Amino acid sequence: MALNTVKGQYSSMDLIAEQEKTLGSEPLQYGLMSRLLFWMMDVMYGKNRSLSKFKVLEVIARVPYQAWENVAYVAITHTYRAPDFARRIFEFVKESRDQQDNEQWHLLILEELVHKKGIQEGFIRHRVIPQIIAFFYYHISWILYVVNPKLSYRLNAHFEDHAEREYMKYAAENKALADEKYQGDFSREYGTFDTLSDLFRKMGVDERHHKEQSLQRIAHARF
Ligand SMILES: [Fe+2]
Ligand SMILES: [Fe+2]
Repeated sequence: MALNTVKGQYSSMDLIAEQEKTLGSEPLQYGLMSRLLFWMMDVMYGKNRSLSKFKVLEVIARVPYQAWENVAYVAITHTYRAPDFARRIFEFVKESRDQQDNEQWHLLILEELVHKKGIQEGFIRHRVIPQIIAFFYYHISWILYVVNPKLSYRLNAHFEDHAEREYMKYAAENKALADEKYQGDFSREYGTFDTLSDLFRKMGVDERHHKEQSLQRIAHARF
């Protein structure tokens, strides 16, 4: 039985069911900005799913949450005289930080796997360029949020929907992952998994949660 500590416990059977749920559902209708980003990632890192490409995805995945947190802190500065409103913003900051932390574990685990498998990465292509993409994505997320938070949540929901599918497809197409256990450096924080297939399925489930949280914020018109 796999031990999962993040957002509930999932057995291997549960995770396989979650994978089927994702792969049996239709993707969201991606907007121009998200399609451009996915196209750029395919051009830069190839169409095939790989650990190195996922790392780039995770470097970028954290930044909308950082942008929202930044805007929310500015808002608290201006609204602390209205405690209820300030408290709601602070709750939002905490939620954003949880999601950021979750993306951070994904990134650290991927880095660990890349290292253990001895995958060679270029400094410019795998270190510098992801930071440049993240820099622009941060500002796009920030500006969209200031103009209308829904626009920023929509972009993030598309990004997360894509990430969810990428992890689930990766687990489905790489059968050898089912022969490797995950008991890595971050097991204490993220959990242990019977197989690497389960680890990637769990990451896919996390991305679905992130997507759903953004969609809920759009539906309820919350900041
Ligand atoms: Fe992630
Ligand atoms: Fe995510």
